[in-house]
Amino acid sequence: MRKRIPIIAGNWKMHLTAAEAVQLVDGIHYGLPFPGDVDVIVAPPFLSLPGMANHLRESYIGIAAQNLHFEDQGAFTGECSGKQVKDAGADYVIVGHSERRQYFAETDEIINKKIKASYRNSLVPILCIGETLEERERGEVSAIIGRQLAVGLLDVPGPEAARLIIAYEPVWAIGTGKTALPGQVEDVHRLIRVSLALKYGGLVADAVRILYGGSVKPSNSKELLTLPNVDGALVGGASLKAPDFIEIIKSTG
Ligand code: 13P
Repeated sequence: MRKRIPIIAGNWKMHLTAAEAVQLVDGIHYGLPFPGDVDVIVAPPFLSLPGMANHLRESYIGIAAQNLHFEDQGAFTGECSGKQVKDAGADYVIVGHSERRQYFAETDEIINKKIKASYRNSLVPILCIGETLEERERGEVSAIIGRQLAVGLLDVPGPEAARLIIAYEPVWAIGTGKTALPGQVEDVHRLIRVSLALKYGGLVADAVRILYGGSVKPSNSKELLTLPNVDGALVGGASLKAPDFIEIIKSTG
């Protein structure tokens, strides 16, 4: 198996003004000028994308959008397309975050269209999947993960899938302080890897980076990031504090 470069991505959600965003990334840079063998990504709100892209031009920090519309243009008031997100300077885009699924009624079918729009616009999608607490208690984890992957990646060919990033985020662990146990995380990550291998073959499955998300913080990141099938983290709350985010980045080394 080849070594996958880990990713630490910060999902800022609906936080930070443009000035606060600059302060945060400067804090990361001055606190950690040489991150080592890890891809570091931040996902600011749409409005901060061009400013951040400009500010981080010479930086090791990559930029993700938090969402995109599945059409490239049109009468969709209030939305941003993949084309616009790419133009604003993003190279990655978070697709299908559970908050989008829960509060904005995103279905796996919509998410599949967004995945295709990402590739069409040369954006690397970070596909978020994960079960709710009720689904876990009903013993439905593999069925849910299987469906989210099957529908989310419908008609996505192997060479594109090889560039994909997946984030496993159990909904019950997001913003709750409740982190999934290492055994639970590794089980689902292995399940995702096996599902990808069945669909695309071992080489593609091996290339895809699978991140864990849900209450990742400096005190638990080392334990999670050293699991065999965990290739990084998608961090919410702790990504808003430079010292915490830096500690999490360092724990990949
Ligand atoms: P928290 O790290 O705040 O639990 O959020 C996780 C998340 O949703 C990242 O996308």
